[in-house]
Amino acid sequence: MELFDSHAHYDDEKFNEDRDYIIEEVYKSGVTKFVSAGYSLESSKKGIEISNKYDYVYTTCGISPNDIPDGKDKITQELIQIEKLAKENAKVLAIGEIGLDYYWNKDNKDLQKYVFLEQIKIANKLNLPIMIHTRDAIMDTIEIIKNTEFVKPGIFHCCPLNKELIQAGLNKDFYISFAGPVTFKNSKNAKEIVSMVPLEKILIETDSPYLSPEPNRGKRNDSRNVLFIAKKIAEFKNITVEEIAKITYENAKHVFNIK
Ligand code: NI
Repeated sequence: MELFDSHAHYDDEKFNEDRDYIIEEVYKSGVTKFVSAGYSLESSKKGIEISNKYDYVYTTCGISPNDIPDGKDKITQELIQIEKLAKENAKVLAIGEIGLDYYWNKDNKDLQKYVFLEQIKIANKLNLPIMIHTRDAIMDTIEIIKNTEFVKPGIFHCCPLNKELIQAGLNKDFYISFAGPVTFKNSKNAKEIVSMVPLEKILIETDSPYLSPEPNRGKRNDSRNVLFIAKKIAEFKNITVEEIAKITYENAKHVFNIK
């Protein structure tokens, strides 16, 4: 059985001591493809470095709502850099993570929307999907998804378990990526939410090194734990974990356009 972790962060300092070792262990465990996602200009550059070292590691470039630099000029410069990195590096599979986050930043909503929309334009221009981060910003995210054209179907990364948001995504042909929270005992609507997403639209991810799924909640996360997400989704969908592994692997290859 092979698994595809659609979203992790191997540039994170939590992997500074053992990054290469963990990446190799992940691969040996059967997670034979994974994405180390960028969230700032700096991490996008690191993601490219890491992905160039391993055939089976991919990356994304983008500026998250929590990593917007100060000043209009700086923002413009960074957006130009993101576009250039994404254009010139074959291992960059998407523009992300990008989006809205009113949990950490409530005072710059218009700026967040601007940076989000500018990066959607970059993705459309480069014929890439977007990878969305959204937190405490459901209504504004839905509004943008509804009113924007996408050249490629996007991905809701670590998708909040919210029906309206998921429906808005599915209406635009988006993929829904489930992470650790579907395994949490307090995620009471997880089964209902997973049930509303057709198998061909489901991705699985760890968001490592954060958000470890049960039974490893609280420990440092790595892509080996994507197995627990797969098991949970299989249980909800009443099919085998092998089937979920295969379907989500194919879905990831499809959305990311990997041959
Ligand atoms: Ni992430």
